[in-house]
Amino acid sequence: MRRKIMAGNWKMNKNIVEAADLASKLKNSLSDVKDKEIVVCPTSICLQSVSNALADSLIGVGAQNLHWEESGAFTGEISAPMIKSAGCTYVIIGHSERRQYFGETDETVSKKLKAALKHHLVPIVCVGETLDEREKNQAFAVIEKQVKGALSSIEEKDLKTLVIAYEPVWAIGTGKTATPEQAQEVHAFIRTLLPKSIANETRILYGGSVKPDNAKILMEKPDIDGALVGGAALKVEDFEKIVKY
Ligand code: 13P
Repeated sequence: MRRKIMAGNWKMNKNIVEAADLASKLKNSLSDVKDKEIVVCPTSICLQSVSNALADSLIGVGAQNLHWEESGAFTGEISAPMIKSAGCTYVIIGHSERRQYFGETDETVSKKLKAALKHHLVPIVCVGETLDEREKNQAFAVIEKQVKGALSSIEEKDLKTLVIAYEPVWAIGTGKTATPEQAQEVHAFIRTLLPKSIANETRILYGGSVKPDNAKILMEKPDIDGALVGGAALKVEDFEKIVKY
């Protein structure tokens, strides 16, 4: 049985005070949820205040990115040990917005994944095709390249905590969700790309316009093991409904 992960990616939203406030409201409204893993991913500057606000709750905190080195001359970056010291246990890697706007490649994703695993952060590795790629029937090839690229040079035994998020780029922030059938098809395909020893245990999350009214039909699909929620994760009532779908 794969325990569902319901994660909120807050992206570049909320200042320190607002983020702590959202976290404490979520702590109250989600205190009765015991059957799922809940994670929130605020901006790096808010990690500590959100971790503090969520102390003594079952909600985990994740960063939205990391650098693969532990320290050094990398202006503007944060490392896995720093993320851990701010109370985090998860980290998002290779989000499509990072690939699109900040030059992330399968190679940097792989280095970041290695660093996260080394420091025992649960990595949430994002993959997904653009609309153009889907229309050209390249979705599966793109996803295969992204998954294999991320896992390349990482030993199978180190991948036990790996989490993958399938986020079709055309569904992010657009209100267009992949149909449960489209998502299930890709999730099942991603599972075939994973090493056999971890394939059945690896959680594969869906992301892209997950809302209170579509969460249930998506989460009921056999290979969808949770959600990575953007916009709707910023509203207490919506995220609560999604988590409790
Ligand atoms: P939306 O839920 O706003 O479409 O964002 C999805 C996402 O990118 C989560 O990482």
